[in-house]
Amino acid sequence: MDGRGAAGPSDGRADGADRRHVLVAVAWPYANGSLHLGHLAGAYLPADIFARYHRIAGSRVLMVSGSDGHGTPITVRAEQESTTPQAVVERFHPEFLRYWEELGISFDLFTTTLTENHARTTQEILRGLHANGFLEARTTLQPFDPVAERFLPDRYVEGTCPRCGAEGARGDQCDTCGATLDPTDLVDPRSKLTGAVPEQRETEHYFFLLPGLTDRLLAWLESREGWRPHVINWALGFVRDGLQDRPITRDIDWGVALPDDVTLDGAERKRIYVWFDAVIGYLSASREWAQRSGDPDAWRAWWEDPSAESYYFIGKDNVPFHAVFWPAQLMGSGDLNLPTDVPANQYVTFRGAKASKSRGVGRSLLDYLETYQPDALRYAVAAHLPEQADVDLTEEDMVRRINDELSAAWGNLVNRVFAMTAKRFDGVVPEAGELADVDRALLTTIDGVLTDAAGALEAVELRRGLRLALSGAQEVNAYLNELEPWRTAKSDLARTGTTLHVALQAIAGLAVAFAPYTPFSSATIHGWLGLGGTLEGAGWRRPDVPAGTRLGEATPLFDRVELPEDPDEQAAEA
Ligand code: MF3
Ligand code: ZN
Repeated sequence: MDGRGAAGPSDGRADGADRRHVLVAVAWPYANGSLHLGHLAGAYLPADIFARYHRIAGSRVLMVSGSDGHGTPITVRAEQESTTPQAVVERFHPEFLRYWEELGISFDLFTTTLTENHARTTQEILRGLHANGFLEARTTLQPFDPVAERFLPDRYVEGTCPRCGAEGARGDQCDTCGATLDPTDLVDPRSKLTGAVPEQRETEHYFFLLPGLTDRLLAWLESREGWRPHVINWALGFVRDGLQDRPITRDIDWGVALPDDVTLDGAERKRIYVWFDAVIGYLSASREWAQRSGDPDAWRAWWEDPSAESYYFIGKDNVPFHAVFWPAQLMGSGDLNLPTDVPANQYVTFRGAKASKSRGVGRSLLDYLETYQPDALRYAVAAHLPEQADVDLTEEDMVRRINDELSAAWGNLVNRVFAMTAKRFDGVVPEAGELADVDRALLTTIDGVLTDAAGALEAVELRRGLRLALSGAQEVNAYLNELEPWRTAKSDLARTGTTLHVALQAIAGLAVAFAPYTPFSSATIHGWLGLGGTLEGAGWRRPDVPAGTRLGEATPLFDRVELPEDPDEQAAEA
């Protein structure tokens, strides 16, 4: 069942079983380098916006991810730096935790794939597939580097893409056209280690018998509603084109070991393939979170109860693994919940170049955090989330959004209304007095913004949710320009009081609408309004700010930002 939106936003008071359970599963970044705006826009920010909306609305959210510590991205980096894979992960994992802290990316747990718990959970899934007849040990030919005298991981074989003809395609994937590849698909293959032409040698591996799950996968995919067209079309096409058996073990020494009780020739020299274990991280992290929370079974509410919902926030290069392979791993091993939705994003580019870690385009997130306040950065990126198509991000546009929209339309509005209330009413919320049509109309508009934004957020249309919040701020500005409380203060203080009372109610409501996007400033505003700092569980609605409330002293919310001195130079060095 697609449980999305079935219950509607809850009022935040109910607790326990009747609250919606929403798993926010976020792509596991390889811990082999700094992250940048492409990652933030692709997965972390949208996931956080969605999680925060649900927490305000009263859902029980479990938001998990972690550092992906396996795979050739890690071992390649370790080799380059003459260090161990473990040391590479231990360097970047704390850096990731710092991003989340400073940006307000509110994980319930951000762990790593190097834990005992993760290894055990991975082995359990593998055993489940084995017990259900979905694994088969097979002798295969694997690329072997005769100079280095070792088997080569897929990614260590490079060559020409058979599909698009691009050079430099890797044995696992072509970055140019996105094709999922096997090393033997490559035209003119070479070892990345030595440049030697790989030989094919015999080795035994487990194969995941995916074709046996074709009917179930198709039935499930066909029952999905509201998925982004690029995701569902790709997944359906991929399954309809015919699934292949896939090897899930490798001749490598870095990765999750095989369970003791499985029999594979030379098992101790083999490891489970990184893509098989990484996606299992969602489950192992949920269990680790439960363990840490003191209730080791708490994860089950998100994974076993069929009414629970799960949303996987990933970039489009990860669609095969989340819309097809991970569901197949779940189906074949047991009956844990399948994804409710996989709202994968397209790419963010900087003047046409894909913002990818492996190519080093764009500055790291820490650099951006030196220039922008976290809410400002979140706002500028949220305005450009690549939900339906690739988005070309420019620093000019980020600066314009922050200054003209976030700061001018929203921040200044709050500061102006607070300043007038301080000046004319000693900082105390004036009586509503007699509301005119124009006053009621504004509050109806703001309530409508919240309703519409809830619809957008439920459907994971996060850019639309932000535009709605901004339009609400523009409505309040128009209302103030029409009623001119600064002018009526001299002739009709009661009317001025009504205007400011209504504007403050509107601001309280808009702070809710902005909160998933700009959580720091919304919490500040609610604090100033005497509503308490946390919006979690407060309900997705406009709170009442009673007359007589003493307001906090408002200070400017957002700094003006300036364009970096030479944007061309910046693009060039990036
Ligand atoms: N580390 C991989 C990547 O960055 C996988 C991310 S999602 C996962 O592409 F859940 F599969 F780990
Ligand atoms: Zn290609």
